[in-house]
Amino acid sequence: MIEQVKGTRNIHSEDAQVYLFILNTFLNTFNSSGYEYTELPIIEHKELFTKSIGESSEIVTKQMYEFIDKGNRELVLRPEGTASVVRFHNEFYKNDSKKYSYFGKMYRYENPQKNRYREFHQAGAEIIGTIDIFSDIQIVQSSIRFLNRLGINADLHINSIGTIDDRAKYVTELLDYLKTNKENLSEDSRDKLENNTLRVLDSNNPEDREVINKAPSILGFLNDDSTNNYLQLKKELDSLGIQYVEDSNLVRGLDYYNDLTFEFKVNGLAVGGGGRYDKLSQILKLGNSEGVGVAFGVDRLMSLIDTNDSKATKISLIGSTIETINEVSAELINNNINHCLPVRISKENTQYKNAVNIKSDIVINCNERTIKLINSKETFPYNIDTLRDLI
Ligand code: HAM
Repeated sequence: MIEQVKGTRNIHSEDAQVYLFILNTFLNTFNSSGYEYTELPIIEHKELFTKSIGESSEIVTKQMYEFIDKGNRELVLRPEGTASVVRFHNEFYKNDSKKYSYFGKMYRYENPQKNRYREFHQAGAEIIGTIDIFSDIQIVQSSIRFLNRLGINADLHINSIGTIDDRAKYVTELLDYLKTNKENLSEDSRDKLENNTLRVLDSNNPEDREVINKAPSILGFLNDDSTNNYLQLKKELDSLGIQYVEDSNLVRGLDYYNDLTFEFKVNGLAVGGGGRYDKLSQILKLGNSEGVGVAFGVDRLMSLIDTNDSKATKISLIGSTIETINEVSAELINNNINHCLPVRISKENTQYKNAVNIKSDIVINCNERTIKLINSKETFPYNIDTLRDLI
């Protein structure tokens, strides 16, 4: 048997229901506040990510699905969406400021485990052009609205990492400190020391806790503008009643950020994250647009949603002729009531079993003109008002 590729998933049945619930909630939340939905290619030039995420980042050094196509182009399956949206914006809307949303598959060659896939899904939003602190606040506010609508209670963690220059100075100091304490770090963190110094701060390994807790804070290296912007942002969040946790170790794994970085966490699991990336267009030599955005891990959100919360009442029709089924179906369509039809006119019993298999809550028998509740097995005479009361 040909097996399914490791780290990928099939989204079907109840999982699909939750996936679509997230997709609809995402579009309703972001698109209703001016984000334009955009589908961008899954294959991109490798350069787009080596330059933006960073040559020494783990995503670029270890996790990209890379290949040479028949025209000798170095391509990759996109590991994230931000760099692609920036590419698109600068090609077509260079002089505008715009809001984008996207939803789709991303690829990272990671060790597959619960909540970590090689092919996974992100729901993302970006504001690109000339932006300010109001743009940052909007991204955070819309994200919170999205999570609330999904019924997910996540903690917002925030930090400011200053400019790329501030960060370079900080990395030099952090590296000195970590080298002095090398013996007390885990093997994994020792490996990251030279090339991925900041990522040591992300370690969840208890062995590293003490060294990390005593490490110098990036906040001491921020220039005055970044410090003031961060203060203003916190003031705005306070006045909006948005709760947050300040986490000076939140440096994130992508090199393109400056100033604000944030993550939404549920019991330590990052379900989404983002930040400001004012220099990304320049790094890619595409233009001068600034940006801020967020991306949510859809698979992680799925693991936190109860199927019943995402489920509308499912109604199936069964019957022995096309006419009897269509008569009821037409009435339901006129009343805007969604319902499923059998694949074909098979035996009544077979149709009933299929309706149960696809997890219907209600079966309408169009021959008998009855409504049956699958769970309680109660039966009612069919009419639209009774059906409305039951859904
Ligand atoms: P990221 O933190 O790398 O940021 O990914 C965003 C979210 O995608 C994570 O918080 C996590 O929930 C999910 N995720 C990442 N890797 C995996 C995986 N292997 N399996 C399942 N879920 C995963 C970005 O990608 C940035 N582009 C976010 C952004 C948008 N920054 C500005 N705008």
